[in-house]
Amino acid sequence: MASTTPCLALLFVLGIWAFQVSSRSIPEVSMSDKFEQWMASYGRVYQDAFEKDKRFQIFKENVEYIESHNAGHTGKKYKLGVNEFTDLTNEEFKSMRNGYKMQRSTIVASSKTSSFRYENVTAVPPSMDWRSKGAVTNIKDQGQCGCCWAFSAVAAMEGITKLKTGNLVSLSEQELVDCDINGEDEGCSGGLMDDAFEFIITNKGLTTESNYPYQGVDGTCNKKAAANHAAQITGYEDVPSNSESALLKAVANQPVSVAIDAGAVGYGEDDDGTKYWLVKNSWGTSWGEDGYIRMQRDIDAEEGLCGIAMEASYPTA
Ligand SMILES: *[C@@H]1O[C@H](CO)[C@@H](O)[C@H](O)[C@H]1NC(C)=O
Repeated sequence: MASTTPCLALLFVLGIWAFQVSSRSIPEVSMSDKFEQWMASYGRVYQDAFEKDKRFQIFKENVEYIESHNAGHTGKKYKLGVNEFTDLTNEEFKSMRNGYKMQRSTIVASSKTSSFRYENVTAVPPSMDWRSKGAVTNIKDQGQCGCCWAFSAVAAMEGITKLKTGNLVSLSEQELVDCDINGEDEGCSGGLMDDAFEFIITNKGLTTESNYPYQGVDGTCNKKAAANHAAQITGYEDVPSNSESALLKAVANQPVSVAIDAGAVGYGEDDDGTKYWLVKNSWGTSWGEDGYIRMQRDIDAEEGLCGIAMEASYPTA
């Protein structure tokens, strides 16, 4: 799909958003001082002087980009800042952190319903935050493993489980990484939310985070832990593609997995009238706004910012 590359490029831009935007007001600090401070605050150590210099050059380019973006002129609604990924190139970041495979038409989805159960929803509240409804677990961190697909699927499943049973239970991504290996999903090398839902349905459930804790590497399936199901889903549906209004109807009713490798857990409108999607990421709490990001909504593109409305789906229970 033509929009894949710009989407991932923007994902990186969003990835370097953090809280040091205010550094402009601090007296001028040299780039090498900034780099040393950054290394200290993220505990970064390099093998040798060669590696350090290489990383410094990348850091410098990223910081210069951030500073020029924040200086204005782009008309963009978001600010950028440094974070733990600032010494990586765009390509390195993408290969390390993404792991979402664009849906391929060859996938035979047996449990997916072709209908969209929220199609006739007319009343959507002006804002929704599933966190305030207790349907969202704490921010998780996928670490160096490209299994965003597992975190996104699990977050949507945690949401529907809370809505159906009243209980918010943190569920196991590692079970998906280790055990969902007979189809398209490949653990830390990538996967699809819909395939994860297929696996969970066939497996008749998923166990808890505490019963099958996250390791951040591909492992052997612990069948004993995986057999201890804590939650079930009965099916899943795709939100009609490229429609932010369809996505709105769905998110008004439950947290939804979206293909920017994250989960939409709400929406709303800023004081200045800017509409946004509230998105949960799995890169820890130092990323974005305590691990969340507000992404502009109702932009002038059918696929939405970063392709957020391209491949959204949700489990049913
Ligand atoms: C939406 O309304 C149409 C027309 O009444 C109906 O045919 C369709 O089944 C409804 N869809 C759902 C998901 O209820």
